[in-house]
Amino acid sequence: MRRATLFLLILASLAAAKDSCLECHAVLGDSLQKPADAFKNDVHSARGFGCADCHGGNAATDDPQAAMSRARGFKGKIARTAVPELCARCHGDASLIHKYKPQQRVDQLTQYRTSVHGKRLAAGDTAVANCVDCHSVHDIREVRNALSPVHPLRLPETCARCHADASRMSKYKLEHTQFDEYRQSVHWAALAKRGDLSAPSCASCHGNHGATPPQVNSVAAVCGTCHVLLEQLYNKSPHKPVFTAMGAAGCEVCHGKHKIEPPSVKMLSGDGSVCAQCHEASSAGGRAAAEMAKQMTGLDQALRRSEETLELARVLGMEVSEAQVELTAGREHLVKARVAVHAFQPAAVAQPVKEGLAVAAKTYETGLAALKESRVRRFGLVVSLAAILATLAGLWLAIRALEKRGR
Ligand code: HEC
Ligand code: HEC
Ligand code: HEC
Ligand code: HEC
Ligand code: HEC
Ligand code: HEC
Ligand code: HEC
Ligand code: HEC
Ligand code: HEC
Repeated sequence: MRRATLFLLILASLAAAKDSCLECHAVLGDSLQKPADAFKNDVHSARGFGCADCHGGNAATDDPQAAMSRARGFKGKIARTAVPELCARCHGDASLIHKYKPQQRVDQLTQYRTSVHGKRLAAGDTAVANCVDCHSVHDIREVRNALSPVHPLRLPETCARCHADASRMSKYKLEHTQFDEYRQSVHWAALAKRGDLSAPSCASCHGNHGATPPQVNSVAAVCGTCHVLLEQLYNKSPHKPVFTAMGAAGCEVCHGKHKIEPPSVKMLSGDGSVCAQCHEASSAGGRAAAEMAKQMTGLDQALRRSEETLELARVLGMEVSEAQVELTAGREHLVKARVAVHAFQPAAVAQPVKEGLAVAAKTYETGLAALKESRVRRFGLVVSLAAILATLAGLWLAIRALEKRGR
C-alpha cells in the first residue's frame, strides 16, 4: 500500500518534470521549432518554468490535441495586446518573484501603463513596444547579462529597431534620428568606448518601463541626476526663470539632447556660439560670453605653454616630474571654470581661472629654470670635454718630446 503510493508519487513527479511541448516542438522545424531551440538560454527555463507556464495547455501528454487543448487553458500564440498582462501575472506577484529575488521590483506593468508605449497599446496600437520587443521572447535573459537586449550597451539598438525606422515613425510625426545622434554623443563615447557604465543609455533619461520623453521643464532635472553641480548652478542662474517662461528645455538649449558634443570655448564665442543665438555681442549677455571666453582661452594657453616647456625640459633629461604632476592638477581649475560657466557670470569663472593661472605661472618658471640648468650643464660638459682634450693633447706632445729626446 505504502509502496504503491510511493510509486504513484514518483510517476507524478516524472510526469511533472516532462515537458512534451518542448520535446515535440524541438523537432518541428521552422518557426514552430525556434522557440524550443532558443529556450535553453531563457531565464524562465533556468528557473524551472516551461512553455505551458505562458501558453497554457498540458505539458504532461504527448498527444498534441490533448497537450494544446483550449479546455486546458491553451492560449496558442499570444496576441501583442495580451503580452503585458501575461508577463505581469508573475512579475506583478511579489510573493512569487521575491522567492527568487527578494529585492526585485514588481511594478513593471504599472510603470509600463504610464509610458507612451503602454498608453498607445491600451488604445489598441500594436506598433509600440511591449515587454517582448525590449526583452525578446523565448531567450529572455537576466537584465545584467551582457547579451540581454536591455543591457545598456545593447539597448540603443533595441530601441532603434523601431525609433530609427523612418516609415514607422512618420506615422507619429516623430523624428527617427535619436539613435544616430546618440551614437555621436559624448555619452555613447563614454559608455561604449571607455566602458563607463555611469554614462546614460536611452533608458537612463527616458526610464525603462515608464519610457516617456522628459518634459521640457524636467530636462535639467534629468541631466541633473548625474550632473548635480551643473543643475544647481543652472537653477540659480538668470536663465532658469526665462527659459522656463519661454518653454525652452534647460541644458538642451545649449547642448542638445541626443547629439551632445564635447563642450569647448567655441560655444561661448565666434561664429555659431550658442550664446549668439539669443544675445547681441554688445548686450550684457554677449559681453559676459566674450569675457568668459577670453578668460578660459587665456588659462588654456597659459597651461599649454607650461606643458610644452616642461615637456622640452623632460626630453632634455631634466627631472621635472613633480611640476608635471602639479600642472595636471592645474588643469582641474580649467574644468572647474567650465562648470562655473553655468552661473553665466564672468565673476564666477574668474576665481578658478585665477587659481589655474597661478599654477601655470609657477610651473612655467620651473620649466624655464630647468631649461636654463640644462644649458648650464651642457656648457659645463663642453668645457670639461675641452679640458680633457687639452690634457690629452698635452700628454701626446710630452710623449713625442720624450721619444725625440730618447732617439
Ligand atoms: C506532439 C507534438 C506537439 C506537442 C506535444 C505540443 N505541440 Fe504545440 N504545436 C505542434 C504543431 C504541429 C503545431 C502547429 C499546428 C497547430 O497550430 O496545431 C503547434 C503549434 C503551437 C503553437 C502556435 C499556435 C499558433 O496559433 O500559432 C504554440 C504557441 C504551441 N504549439 C505551444 C505548445 C505548448 C505550450 C505545448 C505544451 C503544452 C505544445 N505546444 C505541445 C505540435 C505540438
Ligand atoms: C515567458 C513566457 C513564454 C514562454 C515560457 C514561452 N513562450 Fe512562446 N510565446 C510567448 C509570447 C509572448 C509569444 C508571442 C510573441 C510575439 O508576439 O512575437 C510567443 C509565441 C510563441 C509561438 C508563435 C511563434 C510565431 O512566430 O508565430 C510559438 C510556436 C511558441 N511561442 C512556442 C513556445 C514553446 C514551444 C515554448 C517552450 C519551449 C514557449 N513558447 C515558451 C511567451 C512565452
Ligand atoms: C521600452 C523597453 C522595455 C519594455 C517595453 C519593457 N521593459 Fe523591462 N526592462 C527594460 C530595461 C531597459 C530594464 C532595465 C535594465 C537595467 O536595469 O539595466 C528592464 C528591466 C526589467 C526587469 C528587471 C527588474 C527591473 O524592473 O529592473 C524585469 C523583470 C522586466 N524588465 C520585465 C518587464 C515586463 C514584465 C514588461 C512588460 C510589462 C517590460 N519589462 C517591458 C526595458 C523594457
Ligand atoms: C510563470 C511566471 C512568469 C511569467 C509568466 C513570466 N515570468 Fe519572467 N520571470 C519569472 C521569474 C520567477 C523570474 C526570476 C526572478 C527574477 O529574476 O526576477 C523571471 C525573470 C525574468 C527576467 C529577468 C529579470 C532579472 O532578474 O534580470 C525578465 C527580464 C523577465 N522575467 C521577463 C519576462 C517577460 C518579458 C515575460 C512575458 C513575456 C515574463 N517574464 C513572464 C516568472 C515569470
Ligand atoms: C516595437 C517598436 C518600439 C520599440 C522597440 C521602442 N519603441 Fe518607443 N515608441 C514606439 C512607437 C510606435 C511610438 C510612438 C507612440 C506615439 O508617439 O504616439 C513610441 C514612442 C516613444 C516615446 C514617446 C515619444 C513622443 O514624444 O511621443 C519615447 C520617449 C520612446 N518611445 C522611447 C523608447 C525607448 C527609450 C525605447 C527603448 C528602450 C523604445 N522607445 C523602444 C515604438 C517602439
Ligand atoms: C542624455 C539624456 C537622453 C538620452 C541618453 C536619450 N534621450 Fe531621448 N530625449 C531626451 C530629451 C531631453 C528629449 C526631449 C524632451 C523634450 O524636448 O521635451 C528626448 C526626446 C526623445 C524622443 C521624442 C522625440 C524627439 O526626438 O524629441 C524619443 C523618441 C527619444 N528621445 C528616444 C531616445 C532613444 C531611442 C534613445 C537612445 C538611442 C534616447 N532617446 C536617448 C534625452 C535623452
Ligand atoms: C546617467 C548619468 C548621466 C545623465 C542622465 C546625463 N549625463 Fe552627461 N555625462 C555623464 C557621464 C558619465 C559623462 C562622461 C564624463 C566624462 O568622462 O567626461 C557625461 C558627459 C557629458 C558632457 C561632456 C563633458 C565633458 O567634459 O566632455 C556633457 C556636455 C553632458 N554630459 C551633458 C549632459 C546633458 C545635457 C544631459 C541631459 C540631457 C546629460 N548629460 C545627462 C553622465 C550623465
Ligand atoms: C546657456 C547655455 C548653457 C546651458 C543652458 C547649459 N550649458 Fe553646459 N556648457 C555651456 C558652455 C558654453 C560650456 C563650455 C565652456 C567651455 O568649454 O569653455 C558648457 C560645458 C558643460 C559641461 C562640461 C564641463 C566639464 O566638466 O568640462 C557639462 C558637463 C555641461 N555643460 C552640462 C550641462 C548641464 C547638465 C546643463 C543643464 C543643467 C547645462 N550644461 C546647461 C553652456 C550651457
Ligand atoms: C535661448 C536664448 C538664450 C541663450 C542661448 C542664452 N541666453 Fe543668456 N539670457 C537669455 C534671456 C532671455 C535672458 C534674460 C533677458 C536678458 O537679460 O537679456 C538672458 C540673460 C543672460 C544674462 C544676464 C544679463 C543681465 O542683464 O543681467 C547673462 C550674463 C547671459 N544671459 C549670458 C549668456 C551666455 C554666456 C550664454 C551662452 C553660454 C547665453 N546667455 C545663452 C536668453 C539666452
